[in-house]
Amino acid sequence: MPYAANTLIAHVDKDNPDPEIMALAGEVLHEGGLVAFPTETVYGLGANALSESAVAKIFEAKGRPATDPVIVHIYEMDDLEKIAVNIPEIAYTLAEKFWAGALTLILQKSDAIPLNVTAGGETVAVRMPSHPVAQALLRKSNLPIAAPSANLFSRPSPTGAAHVLHDLEGKVDVILDAGATSIGVESTIVDLTGETPVVLRPGGVSIEDLREFIPDLAYKARYLAENMTAPSPGTLVKHYSPDAQVMLFQGDERAVLAAMHRMTEQFFAEEKRVGILAMNGDALEFADMPVHVALMGRTDTDMAARLFAGLRALDEDGVDVILVRAPEQSGMGLAIWDRLLRAAEGHIISVTADETAS
Ligand code: TXA
Ligand code: MG
Repeated sequence: MPYAANTLIAHVDKDNPDPEIMALAGEVLHEGGLVAFPTETVYGLGANALSESAVAKIFEAKGRPATDPVIVHIYEMDDLEKIAVNIPEIAYTLAEKFWAGALTLILQKSDAIPLNVTAGGETVAVRMPSHPVAQALLRKSNLPIAAPSANLFSRPSPTGAAHVLHDLEGKVDVILDAGATSIGVESTIVDLTGETPVVLRPGGVSIEDLREFIPDLAYKARYLAENMTAPSPGTLVKHYSPDAQVMLFQGDERAVLAAMHRMTEQFFAEEKRVGILAMNGDALEFADMPVHVALMGRTDTDMAARLFAGLRALDEDGVDVILVRAPEQSGMGLAIWDRLLRAAEGHIISVTADETAS
């Protein structure tokens, strides 16, 4: 068998999950085990959110620092009031509009949630996923499920079961495999516990869409070097990193492609293997070179869905560097840009129209 004896991979039909498999997975959660499951964003590594010892296994399996809290997934609105207290009106407005879906709300936690879920803090992240398999697991288990992305800490998030297996083989009891996730980047996180709502992480729901309901919604990207103290969890720059060095190019499209072309030639001269994350239209620019290309499709939506798989695939190809042209920082592009900047460990190569790279 291709997996460790203690990791069971169960294939489930996305639109019609087998009730017996879901019941088995629910039992594993009740027994304090870990179940990896698909959501519409990325795969999650789930544990019973009401059990401190079960949640502790998440941190152990991922190698995740205890200072980084995890999201609690719920099945229906009634569950929200078991997880959170003093819920503001805007939370209900956003829930009505964007749940089930790729939006996570930070609220005041209830006593039901153990402190390791929230990294010792008084706030809890809550999300109602729309993926039918995630919903079936929540319903069958009748538990709130604590789940971070099912990758090793600081690795690209998993958008397929093979990614979960690669990172967590033997560390997770069951992987529910329902194929690739559709959105491909994680949920948008909005903190509703401060004076005004703040986006902590751009993601599957665009800030533009959220601003229809919160016109003054704030977002200030905070990217810290690793040796600095994080003001809030999850703001470390080094994240989503493949083994290869990621080089993020930004600026005028023609100039960026020319700069990437030159950089590639330079790497070839150093006998390095080069990978490119390329939009379909950009890939032709590199057709004359022996580069490894991961095609990102035609739109930001395509790119979001393919981004993490592309980073992992280029790693598998054994490339030394991965070059990528940054998208516009709007709509889904902002979430992609955020992940790429972290994968590039905070470094941006700005190119101006006269083709001088800085
Ligand atoms: O789409 C998603 O959100 C996926 C799927 C599985 O639901 N989950 C996910 O979880 O991306 P994770 O753990 O990889 O990222 C959750 C982020 C972390 O950066 C964490 O620091 C932040 O949410 N977070 C969790 N609880 C928080 C809290 N109480 N306050 C501030 N940030 C919090
Ligand atoms: Mg994660």
